[in-house]
Amino acid sequence: MTRTQGEEKVIILDFGGQYTQLIARRVRELRVYCEILPYDTPGEELKKAGPSALIFSGSAASVYDAGAPTPDPGVYDMGVPILGICYGMQLLAKQFGGTVESSLKQEYGQSELLVRKHSSLLKGVKERFTGLMSHADKVIEPPSGFDVLAVSENGSLAAIADEKRQIYALQFHPEVSQTDSGTLILQNFLFEICRFSGNWTMENFVESSLQKIREQVGPQGRAVCGLSGGIDSSVSATLVHKAIGNRLTCIFVDHGLLRKGEKEQVLKICEDLNMKVITVDASREFLDLLQGVTDPEEKRRIIGNHFIRVFEREARQLGDIHFLVQGTLYPDIVESGTSAGSVIKSHHNVGGLPENMQLELVEPLKYLFKDEVRRAAQELGLPPEIVWRHPFPGPGLAVRVLGEVTPHKLEILREADAIVLEEIKNAGLYGEIWQVFAVLPDIKSVGVKGDRRTYAHTVVLRAVTSQDGMTADWYPIPHEVLGRISSRVVNELVDVNRLVYDITSKPPSTIEWE
Ligand code: XMP
Repeated sequence: MTRTQGEEKVIILDFGGQYTQLIARRVRELRVYCEILPYDTPGEELKKAGPSALIFSGSAASVYDAGAPTPDPGVYDMGVPILGICYGMQLLAKQFGGTVESSLKQEYGQSELLVRKHSSLLKGVKERFTGLMSHADKVIEPPSGFDVLAVSENGSLAAIADEKRQIYALQFHPEVSQTDSGTLILQNFLFEICRFSGNWTMENFVESSLQKIREQVGPQGRAVCGLSGGIDSSVSATLVHKAIGNRLTCIFVDHGLLRKGEKEQVLKICEDLNMKVITVDASREFLDLLQGVTDPEEKRRIIGNHFIRVFEREARQLGDIHFLVQGTLYPDIVESGTSAGSVIKSHHNVGGLPENMQLELVEPLKYLFKDEVRRAAQELGLPPEIVWRHPFPGPGLAVRVLGEVTPHKLEILREADAIVLEEIKNAGLYGEIWQVFAVLPDIKSVGVKGDRRTYAHTVVLRAVTSQDGMTADWYPIPHEVLGRISSRVVNELVDVNRLVYDITSKPPSTIEWE
C-alpha cells in the first residue's frame, strides 16, 4: 500500500553528527519531506511532529560516554520504521540489548562491505560494496531479533535489522557519495520499507506554503518585508505577495553599499511582479557612520544596527503592520545536538528582526535548503538573474572595501566588480561558480601607465565554488579570462594599476575578506 501525501514525513533525530544535514538533503532529493529535530525532543513534541519514519543520525559521542545522547524512550512506541546511522546503529544495538565494543581507535575511510542477507534494505545492492565508515565504537553482537545484513571485510557488523519491528541500522554512512549504493539503500528504506510514494515536489511546497501564509496572516493582516535583491528575500516576498497580495509592503533600504545597477535591478523585478515597494535612500547615513571605522567587526555591527533602525523607521510609518517576512533558511534554524562553534564573523542579515517592534515572523523558507529555494524560485517563475544570483553579504561592499569605507573606494570597487561579473558572464562561467567578485584591499603600489609612474590601488579577484558557503575551494578561472579581466580593470579604472588573484580555500581563509 502506498501512503497518501500528508503522511510522508521523516524526522531525523540529530545526535550531533557531522552529516545530519546531508541526510536531510538526500531524503528530500528522493522527494520525501523531512525535518531535523534535536535528539532530546520530548516524546509528546515528536508525536505532534507526526513522523511516518525516523532516522537516527551519527554523533561524535560514544554510547558509553557519561551523558551519551539518547532519545525519549517513547520513540520506540511510535510504530514507525527507524533507521539508525553510525552512532544511531550503536545506540539502537545498545538499547535493544546487543553488545557494543568501545574503542579509542577511530576507523575512518572507505571499507569493503559484504552483503549477508538481501533484505528489503539492501535490495539490489551488489554482494560487495564500499561504505564510508567514521566511528570508534562498534556493534559486536546484534540484539536478539536482529539479523545481520552486511559485515565489513574484517568481520565487524555493517548493517543489522529487526524486520518485524522495522528497525534498521547501518554502521556506514549511506548519505555520502563515498558509499556506493548509498542512495539505493536510502531509497529502499523510504520506498520499500516505509512504502512512501515520494511526492514532495516544489509545486506541492508552493501550494502548501501559500495556504500556511494565508492561515497565519489572516484575512486582514498586513506584512512588511526587507528586500535585498537576493534570492531568499525575493522568494519569500513573492510567496507572501502571492498569498496576501498588496497587504504586503516591501522595503528596500539602499545602504550605499550595493553593487553597480543593483538597486535598479531589484526595483525592476518588483515592478514586474506588481509588488508594493518602498525605496529608502539611506546611503548618506551609512557612509557617515562608517567614516573613520576600520575594524571589520565594528563595520558589521554599525551596518547591522543602523539597518534595523532605518527599516523600523520606515515600517512604523506604514501604520498597522503585524507581520515581518524573513528569508530564514533551514540551515539557519536547525538546532544541532553539538554546541555552537566559535563566532568567526557576525553575519547581519538584511531584514533582521527589529527587536522592539513586536512583529510576528513569517518565514516561508524556514524548512528549505538553498538549492531548494532556487527550485522554488523557478517554480514561482522568478527570472534567472534572481534564481542563479550569487550570494551577496548583507553589509554589502563594506566587507569588500578593506579598512575605512569611503565613497571613492566604493566607486572603484563597484566599477571593478562590474567588469569582473561582465567578463565571467560573457565567458559562460557564472553558473559554475558559487561567488565571484572584486575586493579592494587597503594598499597602493607602484606601477607605470603611459610612461608615467603611478601609485595606485590593487584590486583582488576572488572566485570560489561551494555547496553552502561553509567550506569553499578557489575556482581556477581560465588564463585568458583572467587576462581579459585584468587588462580591463587596470585600463578602464584610472586609480587601479594592479590586479591579483586570491587562490585560497576556506578553511583556512573565508570567502569574504572581512
Ligand atoms: P565567509 O566570508 O564567512 O562567508 O566565508 C560565507 C558566506 O556568507 C556570506 N556572508 C554573509 N551573508 N550576511 C549575509 O547574508 C553577512 O553578513 C555575510 N557575511 C558573509 C558570504 O558572502 C559567503 O557566501
